[in-house]
Amino acid sequence: MLSVKEINERVISMIYLDNSATTKPHPYVVSSYIKVNEQFYGNPSSIHTFGEKASSLFQKAKQQCKELSGMSDSSIIFTSGGTESNNLAIKGTAYSLQHKGKHLITTAIEHPSVLEVFKGLEEEGFEVTYLSVGQSGEISLDDLKAALRKDTILVSIMYVNNEIGSVQPITEAGHIIKSLSNARFHSDAVQAYGKLTTDFNTLDLVTLSAHKFNGLKGSGLLAVRKDLKLTPEIRGGGQQDGIRSGTVNTAGAVSLAKAMRLASEHQPKAYETLLDCQRLLREFFYNREEVKMISTENAAPHILSVTVPKLTGEVVVHALAKKDVFITTSSACSSKTNKKSHVLTACGLSDRDIRGAVRISLGTDQTLNEIKQFIRIWQEVIPPLLKGV
Ligand SMILES: Cc1ncc(COP(=O)(O)O)c(C=O)c1O
Repeated sequence: MLSVKEINERVISMIYLDNSATTKPHPYVVSSYIKVNEQFYGNPSSIHTFGEKASSLFQKAKQQCKELSGMSDSSIIFTSGGTESNNLAIKGTAYSLQHKGKHLITTAIEHPSVLEVFKGLEEEGFEVTYLSVGQSGEISLDDLKAALRKDTILVSIMYVNNEIGSVQPITEAGHIIKSLSNARFHSDAVQAYGKLTTDFNTLDLVTLSAHKFNGLKGSGLLAVRKDLKLTPEIRGGGQQDGIRSGTVNTAGAVSLAKAMRLASEHQPKAYETLLDCQRLLREFFYNREEVKMISTENAAPHILSVTVPKLTGEVVVHALAKKDVFITTSSACSSKTNKKSHVLTACGLSDRDIRGAVRISLGTDQTLNEIKQFIRIWQEVIPPLLKGV
């Protein structure tokens, strides 16, 4: 068994390039979580002053998240993360508006926490149109226009794809949806916040998850444009205006607000850092015979998907992991199930290219030095695996 010292040394020496799966919590985020739990652990629903203190911290966090989301006329529902927020946004809207229509639109490349919800709704009698994507992983706005109908009640389009980093034209899609229909517009912006300059102005519902931008796991939010009603997913004591019952997680909310503030302040600089790192990686891969690029130049700066068609993604991931370099196959969720990536399939990749796909995802404080080390280790580890294949 490794000693604590050995573990710490390995953590320091590792090259972590799996930031789309999760990021390292920022120390300020962790300390705010600990502080609230140690000093303000009262139940915000209690009427005594200790409860009131927790309640005021919770309300302040809510206000900060609202401002930091850029949706100043929204209400914030704190959740356990992206999966729950997506479930609430989609089912909550579908059930509350089903008297107006039962047609829903989404894309073929959504995260399973969106796609599986739509599949469930289809079983319940809703009709779903899945917009296809081109090789770049982007939808066509003409397809969206053609799909909208009088009875369309919800459109859900992710901001940035978690496997290949494709960025969808959210603002333009929003204008089209508003001008041609009465449908609500939701985006799973889990992979966008803190990385790109996001524009949520045309959206009614936005999903965020703290652990994707140096916050804590088990903490996320759904921003809901004011006055839009949602059917609750979790019923109980009526907390959070009855939309998401359960004793509120004050420390989770405060630390989420802290993570959002840090991420949004750091975003412009982070974007430049990510672009520099991505440029170096692209230059390297363009010159490697064994590698084919999957992510296009228009993709988000922190996600780079490539394939090594002569090997499998698993072989590449394990070979690099032996040198403490951590990347993944297509996504963290699908990498353990051995299921063929629905995203790469939708982009029209061959089975061989899909089998060899790996994703390198950068953190906002990644260094060029780490990328150079990654390149050195790739050159040392991958060519021997190609001999004789
Ligand atoms: C695009 C996207 N949506 C939703 C989720 C789910 O978020 P969470 O892990 O907070 O449930 C993820 C996580 O990988 C994701 O990448």
